[in-house]
Amino acid sequence: MHLPLLFSRQPRHLLSLARRAVCLLLLSLWLVFAESLPENAKAFSQFRPRREIPGEHFVGREVCGKCHSQKNRSQSHTAMAHALANPAGSAVLRSHPSLSYRAGPYIYEILSDGQQSVFTVTDGKQIIGEPIAYAFGSGHVAQTYVLRRKGKLYEGRVSYYTGIDALDWTLGDALNPPPSLEEAFGRDITSDEARNCFSCHGTAAVADNKLQLDRLIPGVGCEACHGPGAKHAAAMASGTGEERYIFNPKTLDPDTLSQEFCGACHRSANTVGMMPNLGGIGNVRFQPYRISNSRGHDTSDPHFACTACHDPHLDLNQDAVAYDLKCTTCHATRATNQRSGSPGKHALPTSVPKSCPVANQACVTCHMPKVELPGAHFKFTDHRIRIARPGDPYPY
Ligand code: HEC
Ligand code: HEC
Ligand code: HEC
Ligand code: HEC
Ligand code: HEC
Ligand code: HEC
Ligand code: HEC
Repeated sequence: MHLPLLFSRQPRHLLSLARRAVCLLLLSLWLVFAESLPENAKAFSQFRPRREIPGEHFVGREVCGKCHSQKNRSQSHTAMAHALANPAGSAVLRSHPSLSYRAGPYIYEILSDGQQSVFTVTDGKQIIGEPIAYAFGSGHVAQTYVLRRKGKLYEGRVSYYTGIDALDWTLGDALNPPPSLEEAFGRDITSDEARNCFSCHGTAAVADNKLQLDRLIPGVGCEACHGPGAKHAAAMASGTGEERYIFNPKTLDPDTLSQEFCGACHRSANTVGMMPNLGGIGNVRFQPYRISNSRGHDTSDPHFACTACHDPHLDLNQDAVAYDLKCTTCHATRATNQRSGSPGKHALPTSVPKSCPVANQACVTCHMPKVELPGAHFKFTDHRIRIARPGDPYPY
C-alpha cells in the first residue's frame, strides 16, 4: 500500500486523521466490493462435498486433466475414482463373466459379456432378471449392484466380496430365507436413499436436491471434492481476474477437514453419534469418528488430519512401515531414546509422549488394528489409535 507516502509532508495530527479517513474509505470500499463479489465466489470458499453450489456447472476430469495432468493421472487409478461404475466399467464384472450364489431355495446369477451384465434370481419356478444399472464399490473390499425394475431402483440382495472372490448377502441385507422372490431380488432404495448412495459414490449426481442420473459422473472425481469447475477452468484459461472459483481443502483446519470434508462421505463423529448403538461394530468403517476417540490424539492436531496419512490423489499405501514416521515424530523409539542417553542431561522432557516398550516399527499393525467386520469378508483398519490387548472387546 503506497498511500502513506502521499501524506508524508503533512503535520502528524492531520496525517492520523487522513489515515483514519483512508481506513474508513477502504473499509467501505471493501464492504461494497464484498457485497458485489459474485455470489458464488463466497459459495466456493465454503464448499463441502455433497453440497450443491446452485447454477454452477461440472466439466469432468478430462478438462481438469488438461492443466492438472499429474493429479488427473494418479487420481483416476484410485479406489475412490472407481467407487461407482457402469457395468462395462467394472473390473470385477469384466473379470468374472459368470458368478452364482445359492441360498436355500434361491439361486442368484450374474452373467456379463463385457458390455452388459444381467442379475437374476430364481426359486426354481419363476425367475426375475434385470440388467445391472450401476456397480457400487471399487472391489477393494466389495461390490454391490444397483438394478432398475419397473421404474424403481433396487440394491441387489447379493454382492461380490473380494475376500472370498464370490457372491454373498449384501451387507446388512441378509434374509434367511427371503419371504418372496421379489424380496429376494433386491431392496427398494428409490428416493432419499438412492440419492445418498449416488452423492457419496459419484460426482454431480444431485441438482436441486434431486437425484439426476442423466448428469451423473460415476466415481469420486475432482469436482466431488473441489466443487463444480466450469467457471474455474474458464477463468484459468483466460488468465483474467483474481477469483479462482474452486475450493482448495488445504484452507481447512485439521478437524474441519477430517470431520466435515472427508467426513461428509466417511461419516463424522456427529453423524455416528446419532446412529443407534453408534453404528455397532460397523463403525470401524467410519474413520473420522474412530480417530476422534483416540486417547491423547487430538483431531485439531495436523498430525491426525486424514491428509496427514492419505493423499486423496494417490492410491492407498498398504505398507504398514510407511506410516511409522507419522508416529515417531512424537513417540521416540527406544533406540533413539537410548542414543540420546537417558537419564542423563539429554533425557526427554516429561511432556514428550511415551515410547513403546514392545516394538520399534510397524506401529499401525498393533495400534491401528485390523478388525474383521462380520459379513464383509474384510478386515478394516481401526482408526482409533490405541493399545489393543488380545481378548479386549471392541471399543465402540
Ligand atoms: C486452463 C487450465 C486449468 C484448468 C482446465 C483447471 N485448472 Fe485448476 N488451476 C489452474 C491454475 C493455473 C491454478 C493456480 C495454480 C497456482 O497458482 O498455484 C489452478 C488451481 C487449482 C486449485 C487450487 C486453488 C487454490 O485456491 O489454491 C484447485 C483445487 C484446482 N485448480 C482444481 C481444478 C479442478 C478440479 C479442475 C477441473 C474442474 C481444474 N482445476 C481445471 C489451471 C487450471
Ligand atoms: C464424495 C464422497 C467422498 C469424499 C468427500 C471422500 N471420500 Fe474417500 N472414499 C469414498 C468412497 C465411496 C470410497 C470407497 C471406494 C471404494 O469403492 O473402494 C472411499 C475410499 C477411500 C479410501 C480407501 C481407498 C482404498 O484403496 O480402499 C481412502 C484412503 C479415502 N477414501 C480417503 C479419503 C480422504 C482422506 C478424504 C478427504 C480428503 C476422502 N476420502 C473424502 C468417498 C469419499
Ligand atoms: C454417506 C456416504 C455414503 C453413502 C450414503 C453410501 N456409501 Fe457406500 N461407501 C461410502 C464410503 C466412504 C465407503 C468406503 C468405506 C471404507 O472403505 O472405509 C463406501 C463403501 C462402499 C462399498 C464397498 C464395501 C465397503 O463396505 O467398503 C460398497 C459396495 C458400497 N459402499 C455401496 C453403497 C450402496 C449400494 C449405497 C446405497 C444403498 C451406499 N454405498 C451408500 C460412502 C457412502
Ligand atoms: C477425495 C477428495 C479429492 C479428490 C477426488 C480430488 N482432490 Fe484435489 N485436493 C483434495 C485435498 C484434500 C486437497 C488439499 C491437500 C493438502 O492439504 O495438501 C487437494 C488439493 C488439490 C490441489 C491444490 C494443490 C495445492 O498444492 O494447493 C489441486 C490443484 C487439486 N487438488 C486438483 C485435483 C484434481 C485435478 C482432481 C481430479 C483429478 C482432484 N484434485 C481430486 C481432495 C481431493
Ligand atoms: C495416522 C495415520 C492415519 C490417519 C491420520 C488416517 N488414516 Fe486412514 N488408514 C491408515 C492406515 C495405516 C490404513 C491401512 C492401510 C492398509 O493397510 O491398507 C488406513 C486405511 C484407510 C482406509 C481404507 C479402509 C481400511 O479400513 O483399511 C480408509 C477409507 C481410510 N483410511 C480413511 C481415512 C480417513 C477418512 C481419515 C481421516 C478421518 C484417515 N483415514 C486418517 C492410516 C491413517
Ligand atoms: C502429535 C504427537 C503424536 C503423534 C503424531 C502420535 N501420538 Fe500417540 N500419543 C500422543 C500423546 C500426547 C499421547 C497421550 C500421552 C501419553 O500417554 O504419552 C499418545 C498416546 C499414545 C498411545 C497410548 C494410548 C493409551 O490409551 O494409553 C499409543 C498406543 C500411541 N499414542 C500410539 C501412536 C501411534 C501408533 C501413532 C502413529 C499412528 C501415534 N501415536 C502418533 C501423541 C502423538
Ligand atoms: C507388536 C505390536 C506392537 C507394535 C508393532 C508397536 N507397539 Fe506400541 N505397544 C504395544 C503394546 C502391547 C503396548 C502396551 C504395553 C504394556 O502396557 O504392557 C504398547 C504400548 C505403546 C505405547 C504406550 C506406552 C506407555 O508407556 O503407556 C505407545 C505410546 C506405543 N506403544 C507406541 C508405539 C509406536 C510409536 C510404535 C511404532 C514405532 C509401536 N508402538 C509399535 C504393541 C506394539
